[in-house]
Amino acid sequence: MTDIKKLLSELTLEEKASLTSGEDFWLTKAVERLGIGSARTSDGPHGLRADDYSREDHATMPAVCFPAAVTTAASFDREMLRELGEELGRECLAYGVDVLLGPGINIKRSPLCGRNFEYFSEDPYLAGQLGEQFVKGVQSQGVGTSLKHFFANSQETRRFTSSSDIDERAIREIYLAAFENVVKKAQPWTIMASYNKINGTYSTANRYYIDEVLRREWGFEGLVVSDWGATHDRVGAIEAGTDLTMPAEKHSDRWVAEAVKSGRLSEKALDRCCERVLRLVEKAEKGRVKNAECDKKAAHALARKFAANSLVLLKNEGGLLPLKKTDKVAFIGAFAENPRLQGGGSSHIRETEITGALGAAREAGINVIYAAGYDRGSGETDEGLIREAVEAARNAEKAVLFIGLPDSYESEGGDRKHMRLPEAHNRLVREVCAANPDTAVVLHNGSPVEMPWIDEPKAVLEAYLGGQAVGGAEVDILFGDVNPSGRLAESFPKRLEDNPSYLWYFGEGDRVSYNESIFVGYRYYETKKQEVLFPFGYGLSYTEFEYSNLRLGRSEMTEDDPLEVSVDVKNVGKTTGKEVVQLYVASEKGMAIRPVRELKEFAKIRLMPGETKTVSFTLQKRAFAHWDSEAHCWEAERGNYGIQICKNAHKVILEKSVRII
Ligand code: BGC
Repeated sequence: MTDIKKLLSELTLEEKASLTSGEDFWLTKAVERLGIGSARTSDGPHGLRADDYSREDHATMPAVCFPAAVTTAASFDREMLRELGEELGRECLAYGVDVLLGPGINIKRSPLCGRNFEYFSEDPYLAGQLGEQFVKGVQSQGVGTSLKHFFANSQETRRFTSSSDIDERAIREIYLAAFENVVKKAQPWTIMASYNKINGTYSTANRYYIDEVLRREWGFEGLVVSDWGATHDRVGAIEAGTDLTMPAEKHSDRWVAEAVKSGRLSEKALDRCCERVLRLVEKAEKGRVKNAECDKKAAHALARKFAANSLVLLKNEGGLLPLKKTDKVAFIGAFAENPRLQGGGSSHIRETEITGALGAAREAGINVIYAAGYDRGSGETDEGLIREAVEAARNAEKAVLFIGLPDSYESEGGDRKHMRLPEAHNRLVREVCAANPDTAVVLHNGSPVEMPWIDEPKAVLEAYLGGQAVGGAEVDILFGDVNPSGRLAESFPKRLEDNPSYLWYFGEGDRVSYNESIFVGYRYYETKKQEVLFPFGYGLSYTEFEYSNLRLGRSEMTEDDPLEVSVDVKNVGKTTGKEVVQLYVASEKGMAIRPVRELKEFAKIRLMPGETKTVSFTLQKRAFAHWDSEAHCWEAERGNYGIQICKNAHKVILEKSVRII
């Protein structure tokens, strides 16, 4: 164990200042004189984007690209996120990475955000639960994480300057709650302060949220790092508790030292930041494993398993799916051959290999006809491509049409302007469905799209951005080797205009008002009775589940009593399948304005045909509480609360009520 206090006392002021910024794009600074090494960070989060330091050009090393967060969130599977984290941790060790820059747990305020694919959900409970497991998984390997982007970084437009103006209640209930859970339960080694301002103050300089809330209130023990280039004032950042500014910032280290000399910055504040950097380096060095290796083939297989556990079956009229391996099937659409599997920007991974659905089907000995339908790059089509697509659909018993958003539609650094698919893709759906009524559509996109054609295909499978093995997972599901079990971790509105942030989303000048407050995603749609295309939590299976016997441990309680809830779930179909049991709490109209219902627990279970399992949950005060902005604390009001077991955010299956006295 390093004597950090002793080291601190031996550092010169200039050396201390230097420790609070990066050496280059990824490394923290070393102080050779005292044997202080550096910690190495790398993007992620759904794979490694690690530079090869042995090469002069530092080229990115190929790494396995796992499904993006939008996809893994749809698994609703804590264990899977843990397993993904463990695998990423192992890969970090093999690539010499000490801190993986993720997970991204920002709340999806609008379907337009260009980085939605990197984030889990519109629901803070779900995002917090999955983020917790991801962090625990990575860190179980002796590797750190960087929980990002802290916080309310909900758009890419003017992300470096805009202020997210949010009321206190929405900050606590929506934008901070996921961070709070991950910090309290998993203690990420680092947290990344976002680019944007919050109510007028840059996140990196926001002493209240970093020092008061994160550190004092939640007990965060790790280091706060700026998003890359997010520090505008080195002195202000140190005062606020942003310990490390990334990337390299050599010239401004001098200003930090000068500020201490002139008395503008207390040396104590600088020492606190240095101490945290030194602790990070210590942890990094301790976690390293010499000659660590990772098995890329095995990881590719894992990526397929994770995707198959996450894809969401949105429609399956007349049981078109699963297809039979002996059916004469046409795969139409360039994404069948070369799938869109990840989004653009800092999370972009140089994959080790790609499995498209066409390749996977052929490898499994399934004979499929193929037509490209559109240009993979631009997403456009022409009469020749349409003719081929229609012909392929006509010549087959069943058609599967792979469409979605081209790469240029979704990337860090920009937001979408609309929720539409390319017109060529919409046209293909109409033409192919007209040529063959037994058509299934497979979607590749990182965020919801409008589906003006939803009545035409018999089946729709949402494959999101499923990572480098996504085609394998699609074939597993399309042909029934895997029973789909993904559930949407976000609502699909019918039109963009239905989204609660629609009127204010990009903001005015540099101010972005979050006027919808706590009514984000399904909290709005359900409360407003605004019909959606697919609700949060929605997803079909090849089997059916029956729910019964909802039991509550008590019917009356104080706000501090735990509430035991259990329910029986039976697989009444003919296929083994997984169900996501969702528990929502509905509060009766009291003093506080509340959403109609809110997700407070979930569990993913596997059931064989005829099998019944009892699922049990324990609810604590927080499941009933709202943030009281007058008293500045969580409060569970007295009154009745519905405990609702739901199929999704819209469909309640069983309900019982409990009274808080
Ligand atoms: C992104 C972060 C990323 C960092 C390093 C920033 O632009 O917002 O998510 O980790 O760059 O690449």
